Amino acid sequence: MIDPGRLERRSTELSRIAGRGPSVSRLGLSADEQHARELVGGWLTARGATVRRDAAANLFARFPGEGATILVGSHLDSVPEGGRFDGALGVLCAVEAVESLVDAKVKLRRPIEVVAWADEEGARFGVGLFGSTAAFGRLAPGVADRRDRDGISIAEALRALGEHADPADARRDPKELAAYLELHIEQGPRLERAGLPLGVVSDIVGIYHARVAVRGRADHAGATVMTARADALAAASEMVLAVERIARNRSDSVGTVGEIAVRPGAKNVVPGECIFSLDLRAARDHDDLVRDVLDAVTDIASARGVEASVDDLARVPATALDPTIRDVLKRAAKSVGVDAPMLVSGAGHDAQNPALSGVPTGMIFVRSTGGSHTPREFASIYDATLGAQALANAIKELAT
Ligand code: GLV
Ligand code: MN
Ligand code: MN
Repeated sequence: MIDPGRLERRSTELSRIAGRGPSVSRLGLSADEQHARELVGGWLTARGATVRRDAAANLFARFPGEGATILVGSHLDSVPEGGRFDGALGVLCAVEAVESLVDAKVKLRRPIEVVAWADEEGARFGVGLFGSTAAFGRLAPGVADRRDRDGISIAEALRALGEHADPADARRDPKELAAYLELHIEQGPRLERAGLPLGVVSDIVGIYHARVAVRGRADHAGATVMTARADALAAASEMVLAVERIARNRSDSVGTVGEIAVRPGAKNVVPGECIFSLDLRAARDHDDLVRDVLDAVTDIASARGVEASVDDLARVPATALDPTIRDVLKRAAKSVGVDAPMLVSGAGHDAQNPALSGVPTGMIFVRSTGGSHTPREFASIYDATLGAQALANAIKELAT
């Protein structure tokens, strides 16, 4: 049985790491994320697990067994000024599910590993799903050289955490894994509207992440007549609106520009350079959406006499999760009294990497309110307990 009191106490303890009230800013590959890994690793070491970190700073806690492993977990990092539940609840419930099986002395045949993936959000270096991408051998070459705003590279951040190897060395053989399970808050309103505490994920959207650099010409804001300007911010603004227009015109797509920086950044200087992020997603194939947005960027740049270059950060295809594991999770939800609906995830998840590498993969969603990537996100301890119990039941079915 899941211990709701322990789950809640640990959730509170974890949320204090880089937290202020309901707000959490625990960025990937930071000392705060490491501190969270140490806390979680400590709980599982105390239960007899063998705990290790890999070259990409992922944390694994292993309970031995025979044959291929059941891997279960989520991530411990957050976006800046995010909430307590995105990622963290999946790790907490994985720990609780496995501990409940240990407490009940359930004889599991297969090895079980709890995982806390490093830097899922990519908030600091721009590379989302970092740890799971490394573990499944999908990191693009040169990723470790990407730098944050202070000029610190991923490789340097990893060294500061005590990891000196190439993060690509984190690769493990997907054939060692019998299944990957991840519990996550829904981050949207569908379960709340349906009055249901749990859902099962059928598919995860395709995601494209990039940075666009627009280069115009910095000049005097008073002396430069309007017809003689190459204003990088004005051009970028048109591009931002094009992202919104293109995504709005497609029923299954979303497009967001969530970061923008202007140089030199003074009220009396025509902006010479503007760098902004692109986050484009579609439930099915997102190639057309990406192509239309990049075409618009090129057209606007040429019409305005500025240069635009696009730095691709990540492209993750839309991912269908495993039908057999979906059935296991549906049954597990049923076993706690929930007729869980199938949902498509509009958020990206580490589960995409094992799924794309051929590991039978499934996800449980827990009802959440208040949206997500904000301190308003919330899941009740009652719903989290049901989710953890369903997860424990699914692990038991797969591991015995
Ligand atoms: C992960 O939170 C994402 O950006 O979908
Ligand atoms: Mn997130
Ligand atoms: Mn997440």
